[in-house]
Amino acid sequence: MARAKPSKAADAESATTGARAAIIRGLNEDLAREYKAIIQYVVFSAALKGAEYSDIADQLKLHASQELAHALEVARQIDYLGGDPTVKGKPAEYSTDSKRMLEIDLRGEQETIKNYRERIRQAEAAGEYALSEALRDIIAEEQDHEIDLKDALGLR
Ligand SMILES: [Fe+2]
Ligand SMILES: [Fe+2]
Repeated sequence: MARAKPSKAADAESATTGARAAIIRGLNEDLAREYKAIIQYVVFSAALKGAEYSDIADQLKLHASQELAHALEVARQIDYLGGDPTVKGKPAEYSTDSKRMLEIDLRGEQETIKNYRERIRQAEAAGEYALSEALRDIIAEEQDHEIDLKDALGLR
């Protein structure tokens, strides 16, 4: 006997489940990037050498604590959506050269911003507006981090 055709409601439900699974996967990538950022900012804020970098070293300490707040928020959102927050970070990068440290951080911020933009788009398409608002708050801080790093590198 032919199986009954899934109802439109069931189709919509499985589409929602699929969209939510994709958002959870993406948020876990974002969380792994936050862990990486925390490690780099903790290490680089201590390791930056040179009087010209003393202001940015202080700013990196603030970035570290903001990245921790982002990680906590992203983990909370993953749990709320029914996912399991990852325990694995993206591998942290390192350099002994101060300028290179800032370039590594800048690239990380740009990658992070690009990914959060995509996540906001996914959240809005899925009607997850509380999530997209939380991500907008995070992305505003990532943009501040990007500006701090560009200023320190003389790129603005
Ligand atoms: Fe962050
Ligand atoms: Fe950041």
